[in-house]
Amino acid sequence: MALNPRVASWQGRRVWIVGASSGIGAATAALLLDRGARVAVAARSAGALQERFGGRALVVPADVTDAEGLRAAAQRIAAEWGGIDLTLDFAGTYREMRPWTMDLAEVRAIVELNLVGAFNLLDAVRPYLKSGTGFGVVASVAGYGGLPNSLAYGASKAGLINLAQSLWLDYRARGVAVYLINPGFVETPLTAKNRFPMPFLIPADAAAKAIVKGVERGAFEIHFPRRFSRLLKLLNLLPDFLYFRCVRKFTGL
Ligand SMILES: NC(=O)c1ccc[n+]([C@@H]2O[C@H](COP(=O)([O-])OP(=O)(O)OC[C@H]3O[C@@H](n4cnc5c(N)ncnc54)[C@H](OP(=O)(O)O)[C@@H]3O)[C@@H](O)[C@H]2O)c1
Repeated sequence: MALNPRVASWQGRRVWIVGASSGIGAATAALLLDRGARVAVAARSAGALQERFGGRALVVPADVTDAEGLRAAAQRIAAEWGGIDLTLDFAGTYREMRPWTMDLAEVRAIVELNLVGAFNLLDAVRPYLKSGTGFGVVASVAGYGGLPNSLAYGASKAGLINLAQSLWLDYRARGVAVYLINPGFVETPLTAKNRFPMPFLIPADAAAKAIVKGVERGAFEIHFPRRFSRLLKLLNLLPDFLYFRCVRKFTGL
């Protein structure tokens, strides 16, 4: 059942992609440009955005941890376009972390970027979230349930899942679409540093295709690759003792 309106065409749609300088965000921005959307791209690295999208997209460098800067970016885009139809937050980071390697400053930085950053973005685009527009966050299948070595990242992504669900419920009556994007492992600069095996790893282009297709068919949760995300969904239905046993066996941790 479609929980959001379907999108039949991207032609002329005004889409703001935050976290577009690399990885899944960059691949999604490129795909939407190919489909005829008007795209604004944001991230901290102005040079990378310019190199990749200069001349094709509206380049608006911004840091999601800077609420005021994001508001100014949103105003600039809305002034240029007369509104924003869809805003997607890809800005995020991951670091392996277990309790005995925990660094509180790192925890704060991860939560500030992954979770508070989404609130900052929401605050910036709130004035433009009218009926027919949409807002989406990129969480992770790692937010479904606790995992070892994922102390701060997992908690930040679980928070994003909750945020998207709350937003959908609140915005439903106002006609604003809300998207929750939960990727499994995707080949990007973020995962290039991982030393552990990543099951069902997919290229960033495939992730972008899944995201765009999910929005087109009006999905609320867009999760992929399905074989992996469905397996994790099933695991999370198990009683704790079985869930913990399976996760320990699969991860070896
Ligand atoms: N790759 C995976 O397997 C995977 C799996 C599940 C979920 N995810 C999630 O998907 C999202 C995209 O990840 P990715 O794999 O594509 O990683 P990536 O290639 O490292 O992309 C992260 C993007 O976020 C931007 N960013 C980082 N800090 C920012 C800040 N303070 N303000 C604005 N932009 C910022 C980066 O640009 P700048 O550094 O230029 O700012 C970059 O454009 C993340 O939220 C990640 O947690 C990824």
